[in-house]
Amino acid sequence: GPDLSVTNTQAHLTQLQSIANANGGNRGTGRPGYAASVSWVKGKLDAAGWTTTVQSFSTSSGTSSNLIAEWPAGDPNHVVMLGGHLDSVANGAGINDNGSGSAGVLEAALAYAASGQTAKNRVRVAFWGAEELGLLGSKHYMSTLPTADKDRIEAYLNVDMIGSPNPGYFVYNDNPAGNGARDELTSWYASKGIPWEYIDVQGRSDHAAFRSYGIPTAGIFSGAESLKTSSQAQKWGGTAGRAFDPCYHSSCDTTSNINVTALDRGVDVIGHMLWLYAAKDFGTAPQPG
Ligand code: PHE
Ligand code: ZN
Ligand code: ZN
Ligand code: ZN
Repeated sequence: GPDLSVTNTQAHLTQLQSIANANGGNRGTGRPGYAASVSWVKGKLDAAGWTTTVQSFSTSSGTSSNLIAEWPAGDPNHVVMLGGHLDSVANGAGINDNGSGSAGVLEAALAYAASGQTAKNRVRVAFWGAEELGLLGSKHYMSTLPTADKDRIEAYLNVDMIGSPNPGYFVYNDNPAGNGARDELTSWYASKGIPWEYIDVQGRSDHAAFRSYGIPTAGIFSGAESLKTSSQAQKWGGTAGRAFDPCYHSSCDTTSNINVTALDRGVDVIGHMLWLYAAKDFGTAPQPG
């Protein structure tokens, strides 16, 4: 895969911050900052040649939506998915949580389009709504997707918080069974000389609905409210005894709340996984019916 541009990714975060600033300081469910985030990301993907769909659903805080985009090439019987939530909490702009993951998925999707890919598998990217209200968008997507379509999804990679200001490099370990994606992630970190740790995220993000259905899931994470230990600070730098993200779910989760090295590594590993999985041989197509 390519070395994706962290500069472009930072520009996407600046755009999401501007959207929050223009809409009462947040991009929360049922608020105008969420709708504006969806229409901005959709516009970028449409212009790059992705086929986009907006799936609306209702929540106790108003209407939300998932933005789903598919690259119009590759075998539709073998779908590889990548996504993260686009909503923030009501308290702030949500730039690390999860502007960072949204910007990383967006940049990978734009680079994939620009490279003129006609890869083997069908690539689909998702920007979930209402994660902060209980993973509502990803649950809605999976609960309304026909069984035959669920069975075509070969893997789902989740990206939720990759630019934490006091970062760690965590790889989800809550779905290890038959899961080459987890091992591809750890191999990438090892090949770059970046120490990594497994984390059991206890279903705390949008991969949970995919995992529950039995789809291989994996994910990356730079840490939220828990404190960096001294041994973690020794291997990763940063500050021991301080949260990975001291602004988690707070109004200070702005563009100042991003570690650019962590963001760069995050977007690079997303790109690596997208290119790898787009070309992966999954064997015989499932035969619906
Ligand atoms: N999903 C959590 C949130 O958005 C953050 C989180 C991500 C926690 C990944 C654990 C693992 O607030
Ligand atoms: Zn890079
Ligand atoms: Zn959150
Ligand atoms: Zn999150």
